[in-house]
Amino acid sequence: MAGAGISTPSGIPDFRSPGSGLYDNLQQYDLPYAEAIFEIDYFHHNPRPFFALAKELYPGNYQPNLTHYFVRLLQDKGQLLRMYTQNIDGLERLAGIPPERLVEAHGTFATATCTVCRRTYEGQDLRLDVMNGTVPKCPTCKGVVKPDIVFFGEELPHNFFKYIRDFPLADLLIIMGTSLEVEPFASLAGAVRSSVPRLLINRDSVGPFTWGTLRPTDVTQLGDVVSGVGALAQEIGWTQELEALMAQVNRRQKNKNNSSAS
Ligand code: APR
Repeated sequence: MAGAGISTPSGIPDFRSPGSGLYDNLQQYDLPYAEAIFEIDYFHHNPRPFFALAKELYPGNYQPNLTHYFVRLLQDKGQLLRMYTQNIDGLERLAGIPPERLVEAHGTFATATCTVCRRTYEGQDLRLDVMNGTVPKCPTCKGVVKPDIVFFGEELPHNFFKYIRDFPLADLLIIMGTSLEVEPFASLAGAVRSSVPRLLINRDSVGPFTWGTLRPTDVTQLGDVVSGVGALAQEIGWTQELEALMAQVNRRQKNKNNSSAS
């Protein structure tokens, strides 16, 4: 289970870290309150603040970090049942985690839907407008096209519910970089069997790890997520493989950039 804290090492602000979190830095949008930027009713009233923020967060400007590649290595070694992420930055896909192993619980920028005629688009189709600060409009009906991010007040994606059956099957739950403040995602932390170890890798203790209802098998690794995941990789002897995987993906990314540049 992951949240915005696994992407801050990649340069993307999280939501609630005091001072640096997104919700502390939205004054310029003149919102009634911070979360309004992700509320569907406010979006219909005024989509501009969301699209101004989308310009900063749009996929293409950030790279996955060691944390994403650790989950990719779990997948490559047949150890990953599923990754439930709240993140919309698409870094999990970029790290090569297969879509069928991924539940993007709060949606994704990868696709978009017209808010009027419901025609669907690729995220790339909106990129130019978003980067130019223009609200993307549907060529068919002129309605506003909204990335398939799950706004407060919207249904979660179908596969959030389809894969919930994984939790009782899991024999380890790793929770990384999330405040566990938002439901129904946060409650999944309690969905594994009571005998199953839950490992929290996060700057601070959150959710069930703070309420004093710790289970005997719970483990907390507090501090920076990259250091915490690095220590875990070290413990299980995966450091070299992890570094080799990151080098290989970075090389491939560089070649791709060079060929598209030439
Ligand atoms: N290392 C370790 N922990 C970190 C790091 C880091 N480098 N950076 C941030 N964190 C921790 C923060 O201390 C915090 O506990 O990650 C957590 C991030 O919490 P939030 O900012 O609340 O992000 P998240 O949990 O993903 O928010 C959930 O809220 O507004 C909605 O839809 C939005 O998906 C988002 C949801």
